[in-house]
Amino acid sequence: MKKVILAYSGGLDTSCAVRWIQDTYGAQVICFSAFMGEAKNRNELRLKARSAGASKVYIEDLKKEFAENFVRPSLWAHALYEGQYPLATALGRPLIAKWLVQIAVKEKADCVAHGCSGKGNDQVRIEAGVRALHPKLKILAPLREWAFTSRGEEIDYAKKHGIKISATKKSPYSIDKNIWGVSVEAGVLEDPWKAPPEDAYSVTQSLDRTPSAPRTVTIDFEGGNPIAINGKRLSLVSLIERLNQVGGHYGVGRIDMVENRLVGIKSREIYEAPAATILHLAHGALESLVLDRELLHYKRLLSEKYAELVYFGLWYSPLREALDEFFASYQDRVSGTVKVKLARGTATVVGRKSEHSLYSEKLATYSAQDEFDRSAAEGFIKIWGLPYERRKK
Ligand code: ARG
Repeated sequence: MKKVILAYSGGLDTSCAVRWIQDTYGAQVICFSAFMGEAKNRNELRLKARSAGASKVYIEDLKKEFAENFVRPSLWAHALYEGQYPLATALGRPLIAKWLVQIAVKEKADCVAHGCSGKGNDQVRIEAGVRALHPKLKILAPLREWAFTSRGEEIDYAKKHGIKISATKKSPYSIDKNIWGVSVEAGVLEDPWKAPPEDAYSVTQSLDRTPSAPRTVTIDFEGGNPIAINGKRLSLVSLIERLNQVGGHYGVGRIDMVENRLVGIKSREIYEAPAATILHLAHGALESLVLDRELLHYKRLLSEKYAELVYFGLWYSPLREALDEFFASYQDRVSGTVKVKLARGTATVVGRKSEHSLYSEKLATYSAQDEFDRSAAEGFIKIWGLPYERRKK
């Protein structure tokens, strides 16, 4: 191996990895960092990578691409892994894989590398993604190979080699953050019985600090896309960021779950995803107004499958692509406005309207304006229940 493109976070692991790859394989290392919603200082990142020995550093702001090509389809699919996790981390990995491959091709590199641990889902997502896009590239996962057994050993290694590491105290948790959500694990969270301490949360306020008065926001959708908050038009990225702020202020979007990793382990993870929580809720509320029953019920089955594909690292698969086409096929009707009430950790839909609404007040009403043909109900019920009359009692 001659030239390696390393997905670089600026943390201790990937900083040590730069030097470790050079020493172990004698290869040149180019670092690539993606911005997907975590506030990072470009210069600092560049300096750190350089101090570790990177010959070149790519820093790309991928928020827009992430929002439009990964988050949006997952919103349309209502993709929630095991019914809860909006997949923020999982959706970011195939995008990193795509960029690793792109840069490798541009730089004529023969290998890509990442700093994922050897027991998580992320190694699978990045590597399966890279292989689907460019099967010939070698893949290196230093954390699966090297002999360091503790953070302390890595710190010693960094010091010995003049690698700059953050002066700020390391969080007791392992955190991954992007605009679609924050994933937090490790530390005391490893005991699934222990309630998450407040310091595990960074974007949502604790429930006893949220405002006592609720707040209602409206979200406008056009062709399935959320386009405005309270009538103010925003790009998808800004809209998500805004909902994270507002929702986070009301403590919305905390998720505490034990999930089934692809690699067979059950793990306890907490998530903070105010925007994802609100948008899934609002988009779903609008769909229930504009889509017919059969479509609504059937697509739910596909949502489950879609979430698994994303979680299991199969973004670059024909089934994911086909499902995306399915979910996209009716989004032209998902236009309208949803009213969401935020109060003490909860987001609740309290109103919805659409020009494509299939709701008919004249059919639904119990008042004198009723136009539903009750006389047709009797015959309908007779035939509907017919198969079951013949069943032995
Ligand atoms: N469990 C989540 C997933 O597999 C997040 C993984 C990364 N979590 C973290 N805290 N670094 O998608």
